[in-house]
Formats: sequence, C-alpha cells, structure tokens
Amino acid sequence: MIFMKRVGILTSGGDCQGLNSTIRAVAKTLYNHYGDEVEIIGIIDGYRGLIYGEHRKMKPENFSGILTMGGTILGTSRQPFKLMRVIDENSVDKVAAMKENYKKLNLDCLVVLGGNGTQKTANLLREEGLNVVSLPKTIDNDLWGTDKTFGFQSAVDIATNVIDCIHSTATSHGRVFIVEVMGHKVGWLTLYAGIAGGADIILIPEIPYDIESVIKTVKARTASGKNFSILAVAEGAISKELAALPKKQKKAAMSQMKYPSISYKIAEEIEQATGQETRVTVPGHFQRGGSPDPYDRVLSTRFGVAAAELIIKKKYGNMVALKNNKVVAVPLADIAGKLKTVPVDCEEIKTAKMMGISFGD
Ligand code: F6P
Repeated sequence: MIFMKRVGILTSGGDCQGLNSTIRAVAKTLYNHYGDEVEIIGIIDGYRGLIYGEHRKMKPENFSGILTMGGTILGTSRQPFKLMRVIDENSVDKVAAMKENYKKLNLDCLVVLGGNGTQKTANLLREEGLNVVSLPKTIDNDLWGTDKTFGFQSAVDIATNVIDCIHSTATSHGRVFIVEVMGHKVGWLTLYAGIAGGADIILIPEIPYDIESVIKTVKARTASGKNFSILAVAEGAISKELAALPKKQKKAAMSQMKYPSISYKIAEEIEQATGQETRVTVPGHFQRGGSPDPYDRVLSTRFGVAAAELIIKKKYGNMVALKNNKVVAVPLADIAGKLKTVPVDCEEIKTAKMMGISFGD
C-alpha cells in the first residue's frame, strides 16, 4: 500500500508524565483524519534513534491503553544540543545522519516531544530543511512561548504531596525540614509546590537567598510558638554571595561544594545557627514518575490534537503552546534557546509574600 503521509515521532530528554498521553493524542487524531493513509514511525530513544536509524512501524493498537502510563513507550535519551555539530565517538556526523534517516524513512514530518535542548535541536533540523512540529514537555515549565508545559502539574502534585507528608513528621518532632524540589535552573516547580504545600520559606534560583534572612525567619517562627519550619528549596537555589560572582568563579565554587546538593548546606547552616534539628528530603526523580494527573491528561491531549492539526495543515516549523488557556502554534525560531524563568514580580510570588512566605531575600 502507498501511504500518503508518513510521520516520524520521537521523545527526547528527561522523561515526564504526559508523554504517552500526548503521543496517543497525536496518533489518534492522525488515524481519525487519514485512516489507512497515514503511517506513523516511532523513532527509538529520541534523537539517538534518528541518528542511528533505530525505529519501528507503529500500529493503531500501539497507542491504546497508554493514556495513564508514565514514561514513554518510545524510549528517550539526552543528546546535548551543544554536541549536535560534533562528530560522535562512532565518527558519525549527527546532523547529516538525522537528515539522511529522515529521507530514508521517507518522512513527511517529524514530531518531537521535548524540553529546551530538544526544541533547540528541532529548530536546527527545521533550519536544515526538515518538516518539524514540536510539543512542550518538561516538569520544569521553563519553555519559552508557552504558559504551561505538560508534566509540570503532575510533578507539582507529587512535590506537594511530599511537603504535605513532611508536615506531620516536622510538627511531631519540632524539626526544620527542607524539601528539595527539581526544576533545573528555574523555580516554577518549587514555587507552585511550595505555595500548595504551605511551605514557610521558598528558595528559588531567580531570587538568590541571604542565609541570615532564612535563619531569621526560622527563629521568628520558633519565637512565635511554632516548633517546626518547612522550606521548599529548588535544586538550583543559590546564595546571594554565589550569585554575585562572575560566571566562571561561580561554576568553580559550585563544583567545589562539599555537600551532595545545596539543601544540605542550607540545613547545616540553619542547624548551627538555631540549634534546631534540620533534615533534608529529596524526592528527586520520583517527581517525574507515574501517571499524568487529570490536568496533564487534558493538556497533553489538547497539545497532541493541535500538533496533528498542524501536520494536517502542513504548518511545519512550530511548537504547540498554551497562551491564556488557548492552544496556539509558536514558531520554533522564536522560542528555541530561550529560558522561561520565574519573573520575580509575578503574581504568584506577590501572593506568597502577602501570605508571609519568605523567599530569603
Ligand atoms: O528537566 C527535567 C529534570 O528532571 C530537571 O528538573 C532535573 O534537573 C534534570 O531533569 C535531571 O536530569 P537527569 O534525569 O538527567 O538526572
């Protein structure tokens, strides 16, 4: 049979909730529209599969029963953007190989689900002449051009649940607890989970903290009769002193840190200054696992359907995005390489501050 449409699909970078529900929505919409006249090719393990020609022909049944499934049925890998133009250990020119395999597979379009690095490579492939449609995936919510990424809300749910559970043990023991939240270089996840979980102090990379201010808040809580304090600390949180250093010196200072992560340093400083037992909980990759929550199932379905519509209308070179609760298409050229950090004057931070939550500033 001659297929009129051949669509390649891959998931790239760190996994998160909602990858499979998005893939499902893209596929079901394409099958509904084209019937037998579409063939979907699953590229295995992200861009690595495209580089090395690893793929499998998908059938409609491969997309059933995956709505609630965590992870990605296609597998994923990290292929750093900065190395895309570098010949790899097997002497492979990655960009040339991806173009070649796209051609060999006779694809009309490549659908890419991923975060910041993935979008940059998607844009590079667009510049190289490939038809690309992309979707915004990440628990970090740090993609420029979209108000929300899928995976974010499910990770907020998990991190919030951790803070909720920590509350009871913190009050019972009268301890200070730090919950370290993922988010890479941005504080969206920590900010949302911190507010939702009722954290007393929220530390995010966008607002470098002053440890004296953090200690003052903990002491003030003790003095007012509250025997515990909970801090939601972003994995990328940074002190004012470190943030003030030039880039190179900052990197060097961070690499010399004797603690497993920033939370352990803050915990030691709080314990020393207050005499109060201070513990650290790191939920880590737990935040990326399991089923997408209902919000992410709806969002990823909306995104997936919108991506399929772009393919049907041949509107390539775009990422689907959420803007003021409307699903729109944004040109990859406009968003690739831009990081969406938390604006320090955003409403969520103002709200938290009005509630008496400290940001350590
Ligand atoms: O980008 C998602 C994320 O989970 C970040 O929050 C975190 O910093 C990073 O990935 C962890 O990467 P890896 O899974 O490669 O350890």
